[in-house]
Amino acid sequence: MEKPGKIALPKGKLGVLLPGMGAVSTTFMAGVELVRKGKAQPVGSLTQLSTIRLGKRTDARSPLIKNFVPLSDLKDLVFGGWDIFKDNAYQAASKAGVLSEKDLEKVKPFLSGISPMTAAFDREYVKRLDGTHVKKGKNKYDLATQIKDDIENFRKTKRVSRLVTCWCGSTEVFIKPEEVHSTPEKFVEAMKANHPAIAPSMLYAWASVTSGVPFANGAPNLTVDIPAIQQLALEHNVAICGKDFKTGQTMMKTVLAPAFKARMLGLDGWYSTNILGNRDGEVLDDPGSFKTKEESKLGALEYILQPQLYPMLYGKVFHKVRINYYPPRGDNKEGWDNIDIFGWLGYPMQIKVDFLCRDSILAAPIVLDLVLFLDLAQRAGMRGIQEWLSFYFKSPMTAPDLYPEHDLFIQLMKLKNTLRWMMGEDLITHLGQEYYD
Ligand SMILES: NC(=O)c1ccc[n+]([C@@H]2O[C@H](COP(=O)([O-])OP(=O)(O)OC[C@H]3O[C@@H](n4cnc5c(N)ncnc54)[C@H](O)[C@@H]3O)[C@@H](O)[C@H]2O)c1
Repeated sequence: MEKPGKIALPKGKLGVLLPGMGAVSTTFMAGVELVRKGKAQPVGSLTQLSTIRLGKRTDARSPLIKNFVPLSDLKDLVFGGWDIFKDNAYQAASKAGVLSEKDLEKVKPFLSGISPMTAAFDREYVKRLDGTHVKKGKNKYDLATQIKDDIENFRKTKRVSRLVTCWCGSTEVFIKPEEVHSTPEKFVEAMKANHPAIAPSMLYAWASVTSGVPFANGAPNLTVDIPAIQQLALEHNVAICGKDFKTGQTMMKTVLAPAFKARMLGLDGWYSTNILGNRDGEVLDDPGSFKTKEESKLGALEYILQPQLYPMLYGKVFHKVRINYYPPRGDNKEGWDNIDIFGWLGYPMQIKVDFLCRDSILAAPIVLDLVLFLDLAQRAGMRGIQEWLSFYFKSPMTAPDLYPEHDLFIQLMKLKNTLRWMMGEDLITHLGQEYYD
């Protein structure tokens, strides 16, 4: 790909469209407003807090990322979304129970002013939910066209100069790529024929991409990870990325597994289990939705450990992932990992991880970074799959025939080198011979 020329500055307002206004979306929106009001800090966000080293280690040049690349300012973000329930963002956030009442009170008027548009929804794809705030249409194509109208309406009434969509809706049932996903034409035909392989999330993806709006996919659903949408992204010069926010357990996995491999320590098994009591947990209690999540969570180890190159160390790994719906915990998930490793001469050892995390607290800064980076990529003329944003995903999208990079630190290096490349700075290889000449 050609290096971007001068990147257009982020003039005017940036509209953030969120299909799914549940725990993650509302925690994200409330958080941005709290930060804008100076009442909280954007902890967990690279775009807001991280620096980037430029040039040599002796150059002492480490600006904040947000001062290095032309990102949209938080004050210019304007929010909208869709949901199958008609609760406004304040009501939805209160029900999600992630943020304290005290924090929500501080942003009550702001959140109360964000009401969801009617959703394109079908219970066949999320069996545990049933909502009434839904669109009616003669077929899926009709629904997708209505979403396009919503997008244009939002653009006009909110007077935004640019838009980004980030899917924060539920995890849908497992769908395999099929012939109907192979080209834009077949995809449109399939929407018109109400084909079962076209899930609601794909309607939002199609509507966004054909409206010139970049799309990030926070769930493990196929959504934009199909040739039809990827081709449309190239045709419409739109940036896309996914899938499935990398937050708690998988983030830890993609930190620990590279460490074992780096030291050539073997692995016999990795058992991961979770208890989770929010709406996401309830949705994932359905075997169809769980299967989609399971596939997404299982992939990382295989790619990191490369058993085909190291059969003795990683050829027989037993990897299991469970998610148990347990209402008393709400959004405060507990994820346990039991890891059986072996060392010198094959002697066994164990590692236990017990991560008492808050799902949406980990996910919200990821939504913010994805929105700002996708908008940057869009202004830089970068279209199609944005692999440099793999850092944020459990199942990073890549070009066909390219295996995904899961190691969190390789992903971070890739992200920062992409920013350097975009701005015409030297890439950092960590070779460092020049310091010893
Ligand atoms: N929080 C995390 O750490 C994390 C990590 C990775 C992925 N995710 C994924 O992010 C998504 C959101 O998570 P959450 O905790 O906010 O879930 P949530 O259940 O609180 O919110 C999802 C919302 O999407 C709505 N929805 C479902 N189908 C829709 C449709 N077709 N159109 C519009 N709205 C629709 C639901 O009504 C719900 O309000 C889930 O898919 C989850 O698996 C979350």
